[in-house]
Amino acid sequence: AAWEKQVRHSSTPRRVNGFSVLVTGAAGFIGSHCSLALKKRGDGVLGLDNFNDYYDPSLKRARQNLLSKHQIFIVEGDLNDGPLLTKLFDVVPFTHVLHLAAQAGVRYAMQNPQSYVKSNIAGFVNLLEVAKAVNPQPAIVWASSSSVYGLNTENPFSEHDRTDRPASLYAATKKAGEEIAHTYNHIYGLSLTGLRFFTVYGPWGRPDMAYFFFTKDILQGKPIDIYRTQDQKAVARDFTYIDDVVKGCLGALDTAEKSTGSGGKKKGPAQLRVYNLGNTSPVPVGRLVSILEGLLNTKAKKHVITLPRNGDVPYTHANVTLAYKDFGYKPTTDLAAGLRKFVKWYVSYFGIESKRSKETQHFDESS
Ligand code: NAD
Ligand code: UGA
Repeated sequence: AAWEKQVRHSSTPRRVNGFSVLVTGAAGFIGSHCSLALKKRGDGVLGLDNFNDYYDPSLKRARQNLLSKHQIFIVEGDLNDGPLLTKLFDVVPFTHVLHLAAQAGVRYAMQNPQSYVKSNIAGFVNLLEVAKAVNPQPAIVWASSSSVYGLNTENPFSEHDRTDRPASLYAATKKAGEEIAHTYNHIYGLSLTGLRFFTVYGPWGRPDMAYFFFTKDILQGKPIDIYRTQDQKAVARDFTYIDDVVKGCLGALDTAEKSTGSGGKKKGPAQLRVYNLGNTSPVPVGRLVSILEGLLNTKAKKHVITLPRNGDVPYTHANVTLAYKDFGYKPTTDLAAGLRKFVKWYVSYFGIESKRSKETQHFDESS
């Protein structure tokens, strides 16, 4: 296959004892950032992505172009293609898998529930089935989600808090992923580390996420909906900047132990861990919008509406003590600073009508 030639040349790690990492979802938002960061520090990286059209695939292609400039190759294929995955592991002796491919998005689960089952459950199981049989087994770090905390509002959320009240099918499939991971760790000794990301945002982000389409709608003068809870409290998120999340992913990979399974040398139980990767500072959606209004120098047409029963949870807030203790995770970017970087990217990527660019020039130059 075409990718095989590329891979044989490009995936050799430069770091002494560098990792060789399979990044699934590498054309995605978090996957593309992590791939670049791994490559920059000298690890070998190979991507896998099916380039599906959940959101505009041209953005995925643009990320792919960026990665290819850094000699990172993305194999086009699906998690559910077992023979392809087996072949990948045959060709490259991956030390680690950073598994980020999934059907993301909370509200879309009401429109296309099966896509969540296919990628987040069947696809994850397929990857684990292949990985368990590889010798030596790779350590796997995968994306869970803050959505597993469901309707919890006691704050902040810690890893041992209850996760039995998912509010969306998305959340339920992410929770299922954690339980599936437990079984593969228990039976096959696979090393598995789950990362519960909290509403991650930044340059090259996802167009289906609120901060992204709010920016677009504000610039186009279209109205936006700001949700409030049934009891008229502000809906809030622990918005986490992409660079902080990338550091957390690399830290988790660095501390992921080798498996004890078929090929692992380590004695004792293989690792199974779950970490929060959040910002530790929840912000109401209304505040997110006023920051955007400032950065875009434009007033939003706001409709404050009661949160529909659409899978959204009222509140998220991460306690990250565990990730700090185990791999020094410490978020450093506040929402205003992170959104400034996002808006700068947005404007340069999409361009905006000349009048608008003039208005935002002060911003462009200062950041
Ligand atoms: P994304 O949609 O940008 O990236 C996921 C990528 O996986 C996409 O490029 C998609 O084409 C690919 N993909 C999906 N299904 C696939 C399949 N079956 N086979 C191969 N490729 C497939 O999303 P993201 O924001 O980068 O999220 C990455 C991971 O983090 C996901 O698992 C997501 O659920 C999780 N997560 C994200 C956030 C966030 O706020 N961005 C928060 C919590 C958890
Ligand atoms: C995000 C991602 O989309 C999920 O993939 C991820 O798993 C999840 O974070 C997570 O942390 O686990 P969400 O927090 O719902 O999910 O992110 P957005 O869709 O960007 O929504 C952000 C906030 O804006 C939410 O509080 C939502 O209720 C609110 N919102 C959304 C509005 O007020 N109005 C809208 O029109 C849309």
